[in-house]
Amino acid sequence: MEKKLVQIGLMGLGTVGTGVVRIVEGHQEDLFNQTGLSVNIHKILVQDKNKYRNITIDPDKITTNPADLLDNPEIDIIVEVIGGIQPTKDYLIKALENKKHVVTANKDLMALHSSEILRKAQENNCDVFYEASVAGGIPILRALVEGFSSDRITKMMGIVNGTTNYILTKMSKEGAEYQDVLAEAQALGYAEADPTSDVEGYDAARKMAILSTLGFRVPMNLEDVQVKGISQVTKEDIAYGKKLGYEVKLLGIARRDDDEVEVSVQPTMIQKNHPLASVNGVYNAVYVHGEAVGETMFYGPGAGEMPTATAVVSDLITVVKNMKLGVNGRGTVAPYKEKKLKSDGKKFAKYFMRIIVADRRGVLAQITNLLAEKNVSLDQVIQQSYQESGQAEIVMVTHTATQQDVNVVIQTLEGMDVIHQIKSCYRVEGGEKNE
Ligand code: NAP
Ligand code: HSE
Repeated sequence: MEKKLVQIGLMGLGTVGTGVVRIVEGHQEDLFNQTGLSVNIHKILVQDKNKYRNITIDPDKITTNPADLLDNPEIDIIVEVIGGIQPTKDYLIKALENKKHVVTANKDLMALHSSEILRKAQENNCDVFYEASVAGGIPILRALVEGFSSDRITKMMGIVNGTTNYILTKMSKEGAEYQDVLAEAQALGYAEADPTSDVEGYDAARKMAILSTLGFRVPMNLEDVQVKGISQVTKEDIAYGKKLGYEVKLLGIARRDDDEVEVSVQPTMIQKNHPLASVNGVYNAVYVHGEAVGETMFYGPGAGEMPTATAVVSDLITVVKNMKLGVNGRGTVAPYKEKKLKSDGKKFAKYFMRIIVADRRGVLAQITNLLAEKNVSLDQVIQQSYQESGQAEIVMVTHTATQQDVNVVIQTLEGMDVIHQIKSCYRVEGGEKNE
């Protein structure tokens, strides 16, 4: 007999889980009209049954026993919004072994273990979708997999962490110090008590591993992403950036040249007229350049109860449509291109450097000679002397150079007597073709 009702096992009833219940219960007619089947949340797994919830739920649906979902023959789809690696990984593997489709918002798990989870799904003819894991309410994974399936993506740049974008925006608009803005963001609940994963770029790196795998069709691992966070960014860097026409953003950058790829997360000076420069506050955006389409950009809320829940429920709708058509497990395109990572000698970008030097005759000439010797050419320079200390501050933006040459320049500068301190060095983006 043909199935009329699809039963969901929801794992987690926190921020995102609550939004999922609201949308599934509130959009019943739309769900039926779009899928041809009715959808019901049958059981909900939580940690603490007695916790106060911001939503009214039939108490019979709530359980603390994962087997009530995983071994329940009535349940067709597991929606996982618990988070973390364990026990969720074991739960999802078990769900797939029991022929239950999976929808998850878990970037930590998918960045580290997607190949194992997707293989298990394939073995069991099951769907696994994870749209909410990157950039919350922005349907970017679907865009990469389906919208750009006809194109070859050459570059993606993402503001994919709302916490750091909030901090950098405040620093830029108010001229405030990093530590002060972080403390304020923590007090307001925008940043976590332990902000390491966000501010050191690890959260963004997980999202970039997922984006680059799907965008380039290459199996990228988290270790392939070069990561630097924002904790060293100062208000002076931001002020100098502004003078030269840039905003500082924590950018995930994934770039393909020929068949070689590079992926990084780093504080980046981006030209003010680039669309990513005006993405402010907790908002996320992903810029995608394709060989055929050229430039595109996707913008929206990267987190929050209802935006994230829309992504989860849209995955749910896809699974239910696939059930109706009997095509579950056939839509997943595994990365099919060989991974070739670029060496530093093939990573091209412009760079911003701020250095403190001895305020003596010939110092700037020594620096420019070094740059010329190492194939790095200058685009912009500002020099400002500190009258009393006998030091001067030099801020430079290079023309396009390789990361290898710039690393050599930095190392050499560090060893020179006249160089007192290298305050900062940032990649620069925007303003050139395909950027
Ligand atoms: P959350 O508010 O902390 O909720 C987590 C839920 O999981 C809670 O209901 C908790 O139960 C339950 N839970 C935790 N450990 C459990 C365990 N061992 N067994 C059973 N239940 C357990 O988390 P969230 O913010 O909704 O995030 C969920 C997922 O969505 C994460 O993977 C996160 O990265 C992802 N995500 C979140 C956002 C966002 O805006 N929040 C955006 C994008 C992606 P109790 O309620 O009983 O404590
Ligand atoms: N901590 C993340 C952020 C939440 O700040 O963007 C969404 O993944």
